[in-house]
Amino acid sequence: MAILGFGKKNGNETEETLKIPVSLGVIMDGNGRWAKKRMLPRSAGHRAGAENLKALCRNCGNYGVKYLTVYAFSTENWNRPDDEVSALMDLFVEFFDRYDPELEQEGIRVRFTGDIENLPDRIKAVCKKGEERSKHRDRMQLIVAFNYGGRREIVNSCQKIAQMVKNGDLNVEDIDEKTIADNLYLPDVPDPDLIIRPSGEQRLSNFLLWESAYSELWVSDCLWPDFGLEELTEAFRAYTRRDRRFGGLSKEEK
Ligand code: FPP
Repeated sequence: MAILGFGKKNGNETEETLKIPVSLGVIMDGNGRWAKKRMLPRSAGHRAGAENLKALCRNCGNYGVKYLTVYAFSTENWNRPDDEVSALMDLFVEFFDRYDPELEQEGIRVRFTGDIENLPDRIKAVCKKGEERSKHRDRMQLIVAFNYGGRREIVNSCQKIAQMVKNGDLNVEDIDEKTIADNLYLPDVPDPDLIIRPSGEQRLSNFLLWESAYSELWVSDCLWPDFGLEELTEAFRAYTRRDRRFGGLSKEEK
């Protein structure tokens, strides 16, 4: 999808065509550092991060992104201190209860990806309710990776496939990449075209490992709670300039 935006060339505003990713992944990193810089508790950073997620949803919806996957809580985040985990869980519950009317207004369908079955009951209930009441919305899908790990997702897919083989429903020789992809948590969601990681780290941290095989990556030094429309537009500008070859040749080389 392409839309007209405004870019800066030699200090002057010039019109440019921005290519908008259909499917976007965002690793919301840097809440802790944002809070530390302000001498606030880490939980305040997560709260600011959640506020910024609202803004991201609005901006992505306006830009025409169709699938926005955000990394909210990884399978490894349980190793954080109890009070931080508990603050994150409370924030999660509050976010999806309080913010749903705004999501409704924006036409945003909410889905969850990750090991949802093994979450505490009250969190599972929030996931179920959020998915159920937003099923009809079709402007954009917000996919929240919660208790998510890319490796665990691939293991889970392999287990489902092994079970099919064991039941006699699938031949080993027929297993291919599509079989693995079809058995991931949300097989209908397209692979991310672009993954954004704020706050300077240059790694995926177990986010969408299978799905990111050909994703473009964009990192920014900006901490997540400060990552606004300007930074998002900058990421889309960079994405517009990328030559996606998927292992083939660029148009000029053919
Ligand atoms: C990583 O920053 C961020 C997280 C582990 C949590 C992300 C959660 C939110 C943005 C808010 C809540 C989300 C929802 C869906 C309501 P960090 O704490 O590792 O930051 P640091 O690297 O600076 O310490």
